[in-house]
Amino acid sequence: LSDLEKILIKYFNEFKAEKLSVKVKQLLQANLLQEPNLINLLTIPETYFFRNYRLFKALEQSILPGMLEQKVKNGEAFTIWSAGCSSGEEPYSFAMLIDDMREKLNLNLELRILGTDLNHQSLAKARRGVYSNWSFRKIPVKYLEKYFKPLDERFYKIDEKIRHAVTFQHHNLKQGPYPPSPKWTQFDLIVCRNVLIYFDKETSFEVLNNFSKVLKDEGIFILGPAEMPSLYFKQFKPQLINDLIVYRKNGFVLHKSATNKSQGMNRLTVTSRKPKKLKIEKRLFQLPNNDKHESVVENSVDEKALIKKLADQGELQEALQLAKRYVERKPMEEEAHYLLGTIYFEIGELDKAKTSFEKTLYLKPDFLMAYFHLANISSMQSNQNNVLKYFSTMLDLLNHYPADQSIPFSDGLTAGQFRKLVGDILETEKVAG
Ligand SMILES: C[S@@+](CC[C@H](N)C(=O)[O-])C[C@H]1O[C@@H](n2cnc3c(N)ncnc32)[C@H](O)[C@@H]1O
Repeated sequence: LSDLEKILIKYFNEFKAEKLSVKVKQLLQANLLQEPNLINLLTIPETYFFRNYRLFKALEQSILPGMLEQKVKNGEAFTIWSAGCSSGEEPYSFAMLIDDMREKLNLNLELRILGTDLNHQSLAKARRGVYSNWSFRKIPVKYLEKYFKPLDERFYKIDEKIRHAVTFQHHNLKQGPYPPSPKWTQFDLIVCRNVLIYFDKETSFEVLNNFSKVLKDEGIFILGPAEMPSLYFKQFKPQLINDLIVYRKNGFVLHKSATNKSQGMNRLTVTSRKPKKLKIEKRLFQLPNNDKHESVVENSVDEKALIKKLADQGELQEALQLAKRYVERKPMEEEAHYLLGTIYFEIGELDKAKTSFEKTLYLKPDFLMAYFHLANISSMQSNQNNVLKYFSTMLDLLNHYPADQSIPFSDGLTAGQFRKLVGDILETEKVAG
């Protein structure tokens, strides 16, 4: 049985046989997306605080300081939309990150965050602001200590100031409207992570197009790590900033300037290729590398776990050194080469990353995520033939997996989800080519 069939059987089992036909009739007449119980079963609410910590660290270090300072200068609020926010961990993580930055940088900044989702049950949980251990699996200790109060052994309540910084609203990304209500116009930051992977290609296209309309010209758009609009949406351009891919509207670039390094600061400047549009200075400040509060709430069990943990925390140079040494000692271990490849990828050393992923495949020709990365690198290097080659091989291999089997090293994505994602990309690439 497919996942969808299992969900529908579970849903319909709750109705007695004689009422079932009535229910089915009602459902066929109604819009299925108005049926809260069905939505709760069909949507996947998986989320946790500071998911992909590297993202938050890169934002804190190189992207946000300049943007926030500019907002204060202009007397404007900084606005964020977390689209598909599930039970609120994602928008609350942004609220904590920026509140902490406001204090450190002494900024008198108004922060407005919108969290939207299709699932009413998740939104109710988000509004309550009470979470159990599971949501805290990767939160840096400093935020847990600063922004949560324990209610009992299992549950913690989020700080009221943070709770009030976020407004939650029901919104269906497939139906709109964009923006979700007239209270919001355009956003400085739009985050839509791990949502579009469940949409078909045409819908993703439409949703991305709508996002681009409500993102400010100088704004930032962020997707989940396995989602790549650059491959099938040309209105956003990917940019590697501090080891992280973010998207900006076409024509707007963020680049490092050589000035001010002597003062212990790098400066990032946003410029527009469109004439006289904007020029904002961005400050990058470094946090001390050995800050004990940066450690996350989980224990590493072995060397590879330590390397992964360091990489997740954004300590990429340290992770790189350890990974290189590990590969030297274990040259026949495919996972070691893969790990090294992901770190090279993160720091933008694409050719070295490519070599590591090729070695991974030499040792284990069905290592699916190595194909995925190689296709991604080929795309970034505009090598269309290789994009098609790697994705086609990946799709062939994926066809041997059951749909619900999760793919190793993919952060929990299943073969079915990858088949859809890769299939859609291939189709678009073939049409474009
Ligand atoms: C896997 S969660 C991702 C949560 C969070 N963004 C993260 O990355 O941790 C996916 C969320 O997308 C929501 N979702 C699915 N389809 C949606 C739609 N059409 N409109 C709005 N939200 C949707 C689901 O209800 C679910 O909460």
